[in-house]
Amino acid sequence: AKEVISLQEVKNFETRAEEFFPIHWYKEMFSSHPVYFHEGTNTWHVFKYEDVKQVLTNHDIFSVEGDRSAIPVGANNKEGTLPDNANIMVDPPVHKKRRSLLSAAFTPRSLKNWEPRIQRIAKELVDDIQVNSTVDIVQALAAPLPGMVIAELFGVPIKDRTQFKHWVDILFQPYEKGKEDEIEVRKQEAAKEYFQYLFPIVVEKRKNLSEDVISDLIKAEVDGEKFTDDEIVRVSMFLLGAGIETTSHALANTFYSLLYDDESLYEELRKDIELVPDAVEEMLRYRFQISKRDRTVKQDNDLLGPELKKGDVVVAWMSAANMDEEMFDHPFTLNIHRSNNKKHLTFGKGQHFCLGAPLARLEIRVALEAFLQKFSRIEPIESFDLENNLTASAPGQSLMHLPMKVYQ
Ligand code: HEM
Repeated sequence: AKEVISLQEVKNFETRAEEFFPIHWYKEMFSSHPVYFHEGTNTWHVFKYEDVKQVLTNHDIFSVEGDRSAIPVGANNKEGTLPDNANIMVDPPVHKKRRSLLSAAFTPRSLKNWEPRIQRIAKELVDDIQVNSTVDIVQALAAPLPGMVIAELFGVPIKDRTQFKHWVDILFQPYEKGKEDEIEVRKQEAAKEYFQYLFPIVVEKRKNLSEDVISDLIKAEVDGEKFTDDEIVRVSMFLLGAGIETTSHALANTFYSLLYDDESLYEELRKDIELVPDAVEEMLRYRFQISKRDRTVKQDNDLLGPELKKGDVVVAWMSAANMDEEMFDHPFTLNIHRSNNKKHLTFGKGQHFCLGAPLARLEIRVALEAFLQKFSRIEPIESFDLENNLTASAPGQSLMHLPMKVYQ
């Protein structure tokens, strides 16, 4: 297992709210330490758009393979780790083949097939929200939707979805300081239980292929290589990790933004629902503050300015790069009409660009559309206190609750 680097040590924000939207810190780093070395953790940090892009894409110099990482994943037992042939956290040329195998589950054809299924789930959740009431949109929609969608796309029986979500919650719970061992034990148990649950489903699907991600992974073949049942279960666990918390976070923060960043935007989207995809992109740029990845230096270089040594770890803060004024005009203003709105680095860049980005975009758009179609107006509640409604997740602060008033 990799050594986990604590970003909390690099920047210990005074409040949760500050970490949730750390633009003051970004401004400070842009102007005084655009390439920053933190002694305590012995790590480099980059914030500017061009530097972040360089670190993510220049795989000859910056490797995804390394012994230290700021991003912990899954459980450290056999069931909880990726099989070698699906480990896509490797550099080219091996990466390409492994990614091709996985991409079988994310074809444009699959996506088309998924849209009505996602719409059904979004509509079900939105229908359960009462009109003219106060609803906690995180608990009612943003938190449950991505897990339900993945369960549906995996072809997991509906009756097992609650159990499914329970495993996901444990598996991707962040490691709290002082409780690492206890949490690791729970994760390993959950990984075993999940494995025992899904394995027979995969075996069964191999005999009866259908339209779902598991079946696509069974069929996938690159250069004569295919996944075994065991490998598919472990790959699926990785997809849960990559795709659930991230999408929930994006969806929750989209509603936060509609309530607190631009009060007229909800009405604008109601009038022209075609603007939703642009709004989604801008929310991913402006309100998704947990995007960061690390790389390990492969050879000594000064590409970022200072001398970096082989073995050094560099953290690329994509969420900060999304606020770089050299790339985005008035970056600290939410503007769904900006012309380069897809240039944000929230999904990464280059060969490791998020494989699930089309799915994530689809989920957020469909959920937002279902919501807009039902409610004419939304309003914040006066007593809402951001600080007490945030919770630490592995990469930053996420909304646990977001109560709001909704009108027919
Ligand atoms: C990779 C972000 C949703 C699957 C990545 C990377 C980022 C990212 C930044 C690049 C990692 C790197 O360069 O080191 C996000 C965000 C999401 C999201 C912000 C939601 C808003 C999803 C979903 C899935 C998914 C829904 C699938 C179910 C993957 C996979 C990779 C990946 C498989 C690895 C690709 C590779 O290394 O070649 N994601 N992701 N993601 N993501 Fe996502």
